[in-house]
Amino acid sequence: MMTVRIAPSLLSVDFARMADELAMIEAAGADWLHVDVMDGVFVPNLSFGVKVIETVRKLTILPLDVHLMTVEPEKYFDSFAKAGANGLTIHVETAPHLHRQLMRIKEVGCTAGVTMNPSTSLDAVREVASDLDLLLIMSVNPGFGGQKFIPHSLDKIRRARQLLDRVGSTAYLEVDGGIARDTIRDCYLAGATTFVAGNAIFGAPDPKAEVTALRNLCLTEAA
Ligand code: DX5
Ligand code: ZN
Repeated sequence: MMTVRIAPSLLSVDFARMADELAMIEAAGADWLHVDVMDGVFVPNLSFGVKVIETVRKLTILPLDVHLMTVEPEKYFDSFAKAGANGLTIHVETAPHLHRQLMRIKEVGCTAGVTMNPSTSLDAVREVASDLDLLLIMSVNPGFGGQKFIPHSLDKIRRARQLLDRVGSTAYLEVDGGIARDTIRDCYLAGATTFVAGNAIFGAPDPKAEVTALRNLCLTEAA
């Protein structure tokens, strides 16, 4: 059985209670904290920058899985790594020199991840498949939390699993967008191992129980 990692998304945290909510998901056994950086240019929304990464770094011991939805993502590699990011994931749409960018991410001491919009082909990462530490499949159009899972993402996850397996990669295969009780198990069966969840966790009556429920849905024998 594959290890399951649950990565609650900071985007859905109640910022007035951030310290408490982070302590709660940490106690719930969450594996990573997913941090969405949006620049209002690549995606039609603004979110956090280096100051927020520094702040959450002080509030949790969870690895910070930073998803950069920004043009020219390389501008931020150094400062985000210094602020405490553990992984940096960039979009192929913003990275014409993808191999160079991935090497730069490793140089700053982070795990190197790549992702793409739902409309972008997996072919965009084929040539760098063996250089990846993480491959993120976007199952919504990036920019907002709380959107509906796009069903044909499942087929992309399956093809991503084949692509990684073919090159003998042990990269994390992560899914982001609309992950909840009704979608997580199918993604796991398609080959994903790491699951971002914002609304499903922080919008639940008991976020702590939700982390466990999501993990268990992957790991129980029969659905
Ligand atoms: C969307 C972000 C996601 C978002 C997921 O652009 O990349 O990480 O927080 O939120 P949910 O789980 O609510 O779809
Ligand atoms: Zn994200």
